[in-house]
Amino acid sequence: ENIKYEVSEGIGYVTINRPKALNALNMDVLTDLYAAFTEIEADETVKAVIVTGEGKAFVAGADIAQMSQLNALEGREMMIMGHKVMNLIEAVEKPVIAAVNGFALGGGCELAMACDIRIASEKAKFAQPEVGLGIIPGFGGTQRLARLVGKGMAKYMIMTAEMISAAEAYRIGLVEKVAAPEELMDEAVKVAKTIASKAPIAIATAKSAINNGFDMDMKSASKFEIETFTAAFGSEDKTEGMAAFLEKRAPEFKNK
Ligand code: HXC
Repeated sequence: ENIKYEVSEGIGYVTINRPKALNALNMDVLTDLYAAFTEIEADETVKAVIVTGEGKAFVAGADIAQMSQLNALEGREMMIMGHKVMNLIEAVEKPVIAAVNGFALGGGCELAMACDIRIASEKAKFAQPEVGLGIIPGFGGTQRLARLVGKGMAKYMIMTAEMISAAEAYRIGLVEKVAAPEELMDEAVKVAKTIASKAPIAIATAKSAINNGFDMDMKSASKFEIETFTAAFGSEDKTEGMAAFLEKRAPEFKNK
């Protein structure tokens, strides 16, 4: 009910579906998101995932009405659940693209940042407005924003709570592409299909090497790359990919 999930031509579409509350994330939505990504993880037919929001918002944040009723311990539980969801999205061995159709505020911006790639509609707006509510970003935002746009810009956004346009989000590296509103989904599907046409083990390995290596020192990260590279190099799809190049034909990857 809170999430629409469908698979079409190898792409999983996850749509947050609470448009009346601008897709605010309450505990039920977080639980459904976790379930959807658990299913995605196990489904071999899904090669790429697109996350978007129903209506005018991507996600306008964690549910303020629900949070207002929670004490500190209960708020912490909600935060832990949010972290579980974002960490699962980040760890799932498939590319996840956020198609940011509108407001991506607070937990919504954090959800977009947990995805691998962000494509924004020209109408999208981004902010971490939590300090205006007496809290701070709690679904990983203080960490992922600083890693994506740098410490200074993350502090600027989090401390001022300023809402920024898609163009500004693109300028600071918070989104990778901007599309006209009516072209957003086509653009997201195009990127998803491009990635889905590559060797799945290579894509999963690249995601893991980048994500895990980013949190390591350079020496450990280099070592990690060598280990993950070796796994991809031993795959059947490596044999197929290189043979296809040499035989001047398109590869047929088998995810093996
Ligand atoms: C609950 C929300 C909501 C939210 C919007 N709504 N955002 N409900 N939680 N985060 C509800 C409104 O109450 C309203 O319900 C309906 O959605 C439509 O919103 P409006 O405000 O009437 O729309 P508009 O005037 O267009 O303004 C849009 C908006 C504004 C600028 C996005 O709604 C807004 O500022 N929302 C809050 C954004 C925010 O602060 N997000 C961060 C949350 S903290 P009714 O019933 O009146 O129609 C967070 C922390 C994460 O995310 C970590 C926590 C552990």
